[in-house]
Amino acid sequence: MKTVRVNVREGYDVNIGSGILPEFGAMLAEVAKPPKKVCIVSDSNVAPLYGETVRKSLESAGFSPFTIVFPAGEQSKNMTTLASILEEMADASLTRSDLVVALGGGVTGDMAGFAASIYLRGVKFAQIPTTLLAAVDSSVGGKTAVDLNHGKNLAGVFAQPILVCCDTDTFMTLTPEIFADGAAESIKYGILDDKPLFEAFSGGTVQNIEDIVASCVQHKADYVERDEFDRGDRKFLNLGHTMAHAIEKLSGYAFPHGHAVAVGTVMIARAGEKMGVTEKGTTDEIIRIFKENNLPVASPYDAESLFTAACGDKKREGGKITVIMIEKIGKCFLKTVPVEELRNIAVSGKE
Ligand SMILES: NC(=O)c1ccc[n+]([C@@H]2O[C@H](COP(=O)([O-])OP(=O)(O)OC[C@H]3O[C@@H](n4cnc5c(N)ncnc54)[C@H](O)[C@@H]3O)[C@@H](O)[C@H]2O)c1
Repeated sequence: MKTVRVNVREGYDVNIGSGILPEFGAMLAEVAKPPKKVCIVSDSNVAPLYGETVRKSLESAGFSPFTIVFPAGEQSKNMTTLASILEEMADASLTRSDLVVALGGGVTGDMAGFAASIYLRGVKFAQIPTTLLAAVDSSVGGKTAVDLNHGKNLAGVFAQPILVCCDTDTFMTLTPEIFADGAAESIKYGILDDKPLFEAFSGGTVQNIEDIVASCVQHKADYVERDEFDRGDRKFLNLGHTMAHAIEKLSGYAFPHGHAVAVGTVMIARAGEKMGVTEKGTTDEIIRIFKENNLPVASPYDAESLFTAACGDKKREGGKITVIMIEKIGKCFLKTVPVEELRNIAVSGKE
């Protein structure tokens, strides 16, 4: 097992290993003494697979668990599901000294984290990510949210977990498409500042998943420690995300997030090469690695639609937007540009 410490506020451990789920209760007991009620929040796909293991491990550690299950999928990540989770917490008489555990992918983690942080003005929570994307990205860093009709993640708070436990064996039940989504976010860290991590995805067969997740979590922790509230360095984590959000929006959120990030990253690389700020050949290298990992590399939408959709990006400030440009694999930089500049990136969606 590997442990990455995230030094934000009180700080917390991210434990990563194969077959560690049955140890979760004991890990939690180290940071929150039983007996306490523990509300496990999970979705309809993950609860039947791993709910029982988590429940038993909590019971053996002296906790009193109960489970709330919501229908799986992004379409559940809204105020209606959030409200019903809060009502179920109240029905179970969960108190402020009890705990919440998010068991699932990013949808579960974001929504359960948000519910925990507003229920009784804040209950401590832990994350058990079960997708690669949740493990390397959403379970660490404290961004919690639900979607509004106007767009994704528009209502939420920053709230850090007290523990993250990632059993890499849970990835074995993911579809290749959902695994690939997480691969895109992992490759992103490689492009940002870790060429060996980028190369670890070469050929598409990932060895040592435990090491890869630990490296990604360490990168995420470094960014979050420097900029918990996303006002500076944490913006780097949005590499490829402006166009990714545009693609997701145009698809009615049917285009998976990691897949959209892959396309958005290729676009920014190509635009950078055209502008002369990105090392020649970088786009080809990125295309190769994404293709080898079953990820798309071209936009299904035309440049004008992408531009219009990207103009609504919530990261936009006035008439300007900060984009993350690639200098070369392992080195990126921030560039604040007039929103009009997004046109040059939007036309890079196809070769
Ligand atoms: N908070 C953050 O910093 C942050 C960062 C990135 C993404 N996100 C959010 O994360 C969400 C996407 O995360 P996701 O891709 O994990 O989505 P998800 O939670 O919907 O999981 C994807 C699918 O996989 C299923 N699943 C999860 N684990 C499984 C397992 N081990 N075996 C079989 N099936 C499993 C789920 O039921 C779901 O159908 C988005 O809502 C996005 O906004 C948040």
